[in-house]
Amino acid sequence: MALQSKDLLGIQSLSEGELRVILDTAANFATVAARPVKKVPALRGRTVANLFYEPSTRTRISFELAAKRLSADFINITAATSSAATGETLTDTAKTVEAMQVDFLVVRHSMAGAAHQLARQVQCSVINAGDGPHEHPTQTLVDLFTIWEHKKRFEGLGVAILGDHPRSPVTISNIYGLKKMGAEVTLVGPSTLMPPGIEQFGVRVATRVEDGIAGADVILLSRVEITDANRLQIPSLREYARFYCLTPRRLALAAEDALVLHSGSMNRGVEISPEVADYAFPLMVQQVTNGIAARMAVLYLLAGERE
Ligand code: CP
Repeated sequence: MALQSKDLLGIQSLSEGELRVILDTAANFATVAARPVKKVPALRGRTVANLFYEPSTRTRISFELAAKRLSADFINITAATSSAATGETLTDTAKTVEAMQVDFLVVRHSMAGAAHQLARQVQCSVINAGDGPHEHPTQTLVDLFTIWEHKKRFEGLGVAILGDHPRSPVTISNIYGLKKMGAEVTLVGPSTLMPPGIEQFGVRVATRVEDGIAGADVILLSRVEITDANRLQIPSLREYARFYCLTPRRLALAAEDALVLHSGSMNRGVEISPEVADYAFPLMVQQVTNGIAARMAVLYLLAGERE
């Protein structure tokens, strides 16, 4: 069996072997996008439902395209336009959708563990499309795939991660994924943004950005903004930017061929300077394109599990 579970809930529960199978499968599906007819019949007769309780551009659209390129039927449900807006519980909505013979539920929710809870209550495959600050496994698969495309190795690769770590949807998944593949991970940021006990995940912590990105082969960024949840940990965006923004001068400390990836909408001038953003934009666009192949791989492999 390629994957052990009917669901994809996180990177924590995947083995290195499973990660490699997903990346290999994504590489095969990436070639579909280069064809004039970008479609294969692998999931004909299956139905994929997006169930999104939070805004999303990349994940939501790429799952839709992934399903359609695999010839599956597809439905898009958002909290704002469904009965969730009237107070229907997540479980009731999910079971209602499943009753329409849906095979996959792709769930984005702000509550950590939301996808895990659903997976225990429905028979169809549940895919976690981000459960708050917990896991965002398919974004990590996209990042791993993009790194693999360019570096052709993970073993010993130095990866620096910058962002609002306690609230980033992808920091924890990226740590699990990169460590399983043999990379050396450094979490960079002020001590107020370091999750307590994070060293137990086998990562290095750097509170000076210059220390954290010196010699890095890959720099992974995620959006930093002030919200009610982090107001006490980030005094001001100006101060964060002064000490942690990835500027050309700081990027020059990384390896000469360092990759700069960003998982979501950028806050130019905060976690990334406009100059570095423009320099890295082509790779970030490729990251988005890779999102379709990675999600096709997940849907395809989970469908195989169910058979
Ligand atoms: N990376 C990511 O999750 O982006 P979206 O919020 O646009 O889906």
